Amino acid sequence: MARIIDGKKISLQIKDELKERVQALKEKGREVTLAVIQVGEDPASSVYVRNKKKGCEYIGIGSLSYELPEDIPMQELLALIGELNEREDVNGILVQLPLPSHMDEDAVIRAISPQKDVDGFHPQSVGALCIGQPGFVSCTPAGIIQLLKRSGIEIAGKECVVLGRSNIVGKPMGILLLRENGTVTIAHSKTENLKEVTSRADILIAAVGKPKMVTREYVKEGAVVIDVGINRDGDNKLCGDVDFEDVEPVCSAITPVPGGVGPMTIAMLLYNCVASAG
Ligand code: GUN
Repeated sequence: MARIIDGKKISLQIKDELKERVQALKEKGREVTLAVIQVGEDPASSVYVRNKKKGCEYIGIGSLSYELPEDIPMQELLALIGELNEREDVNGILVQLPLPSHMDEDAVIRAISPQKDVDGFHPQSVGALCIGQPGFVSCTPAGIIQLLKRSGIEIAGKECVVLGRSNIVGKPMGILLLRENGTVTIAHSKTENLKEVTSRADILIAAVGKPKMVTREYVKEGAVVIDVGINRDGDNKLCGDVDFEDVEPVCSAITPVPGGVGPMTIAMLLYNCVASAG
């Protein structure tokens, strides 16, 4: 029987710690505010944005909400970001992704001041992470490091395999595990002998976006399995990249979907917002 790593509980611990820090900042006369921009009405994005705003409320920081029409010209979005960059009362700026296809996502991310880039997506933030300098760290991988540490799971010296190489999760995840002295492999769709590679892992992070792809043949007995996926299965039920029922009996610890990595992303976004205010 594997230990179930409870992301909901650990994220609540982090949010309660942040609540205290926000209170202390308030006593020094400092307010924290996150600006959240959503373009269009993608239903999944609307849920994420709503949860981010609820998180702000919970820890006692302000949120400004911008809901822009799907067909807004990119220049108008860039102008709004420019204004928010200048505003001293705004500490963090978040543009919910994905953006409509007429927009250049990279250009939008680059427009956000690295000092307010609480998502950690700006090339300057990513570069700083790679060379161990201060900067915002992408929230999902940062949340996974917290899940592991707060569950007492040792990273140093362990074989860590990250399945998936996205800019938001896979790549920063690899760098963060390396920073914690893990021995890191990033595997992907072109990796040969994939099951052999993932079966070396003491810590396996699945971030491929394929429902229930990771079955027990991919997992070493006793491994720690972290599931980043949020997918729908054949019955339209929420599921991860890991086939939980199949893998749980062979691993030592595993994150569920929902209630594993998901809540940690928001907790770390809030952490970055509070950090941006000092
Ligand atoms: N879309 C899916 N995940 C994220 C995230 O962490 N941040 C932003 N801005 N958009 C997302």
